[in-house]
Amino acid sequence: MKVINVGLLGCGTVGTGVAKLLIENQALLRSRVGAELRLKNIADIDTRRDRGLDLAPGVMVPDALPVVDDPEIDIIIEMIGGEGIARELILKAIQNGKQVVTANKALLAIHGNALFAAAAAAGVDLAFEASVGGCMPIIKTLRESLVANRIHAMTGILNGTCNYILTKISEDGSPFQEALAEAQKNGFAEADPTLDVEGFDTAHKLALLTALAFGMQINYGDIYIEGISKITPQDIGFAADFGYRVKLLAIGKDRGNAVEARVHPTMIPEDNILSSVSGSLNAITVSADAVGDILLSGRGAGMLPTASAVLSDVVDIARNLVNGATGRVPALSYQRDQIRKVPLLPIEELTTHYYFRFSALDRPGVLSKISGILGNHEISLKSVHQKGRKTDGAVPIVMLTHRAREADVKQALAEIAFLDVVSDRPVVIRIEDDNDPD
Ligand code: HSE
Repeated sequence: MKVINVGLLGCGTVGTGVAKLLIENQALLRSRVGAELRLKNIADIDTRRDRGLDLAPGVMVPDALPVVDDPEIDIIIEMIGGEGIARELILKAIQNGKQVVTANKALLAIHGNALFAAAAAAGVDLAFEASVGGCMPIIKTLRESLVANRIHAMTGILNGTCNYILTKISEDGSPFQEALAEAQKNGFAEADPTLDVEGFDTAHKLALLTALAFGMQINYGDIYIEGISKITPQDIGFAADFGYRVKLLAIGKDRGNAVEARVHPTMIPEDNILSSVSGSLNAITVSADAVGDILLSGRGAGMLPTASAVLSDVVDIARNLVNGATGRVPALSYQRDQIRKVPLLPIEELTTHYYFRFSALDRPGVLSKISGILGNHEISLKSVHQKGRKTDGAVPIVMLTHRAREADVKQALAEIAFLDVVSDRPVVIRIEDDNDPD
């Protein structure tokens, strides 16, 4: 039976999961691949730590380069992360004619156009199922299962840390920092949690999904990104009063000559299917012309769920190698000469519904001042609520709008912030409510 040699670079949480599945499910994988997947080497600077893996002597090595240069190795799995050494090693592996599997969404979002071009030029596959949504097979779904569809829109919860934090705040009013610390303890936060809570990790993933869905170059730099670090229990509570939940959403929409790609906290109706996705789970809905709407949901992080996605790529490649093929499925779904440079819609041109919270003095005429400025900027109010009564301090005033233009909202709020009856910066949360077309 053919033997396919695998080299694993990086043996942290997910790398350990990959090694575990390769070892423990070896017979199962053999029966599905029609070849032996042999974990020839694992490279990690920490060769001594007990990871609970039953490895033959010599498998674990401290240097990655000899593994990438080993002519016997067919598939390199990059689990180091980051944009530095990981990029160099992937490029070296590609130059050496090896197939590569990675979960490195930050690297692909920023350097993916060049890396996919290098892989195509070398005639090797660069596979990345685990980079978005952990075990949720969204890459394969967009690239293969929905290949006959024109994709209209995608809406995803793509960061387990943020979803966990928002769920904790909403269920028990936990302070943000406490919820974040628990997410970190559970092992699904990034090494630098800023990537999670400020929305960058979600945007890395959205950059890859929009490329796959809309046949465009990866364009991380132009995605509008806003994280969850300023979301308070108070706003989550008010959202609930109006029948909304707050989620950090990745939204990608085909707008004809442009693509809408944005990441921000969003209020969605309680009956929206994404509202019920709680804790560290990820989910995504995809709307496409032939299938209508579909939903994928699953664990977006963690050792074995992510390793499962990595192994799905390894098996795809191994099955191809058994049949003497590579490059059968284009990495970004479209043939390379069909990938266009598509502009992203500037956030100022977005029209959507908004939630505003102002801290304002409880005095006659305050509401009319605020709503007057909003009216001057063509922002029509759907409802206005004063939360509480105080004669000597600020009260929260909450407003929901009809559909308004982001540029108008920005100008109006800048003017309102200058009113002497308004303290603090206004809070703005966008609303996606398909039940309300206006
Ligand atoms: N930090 C990510 C998350 C892990 O919390 O979802 C997987 O990308």
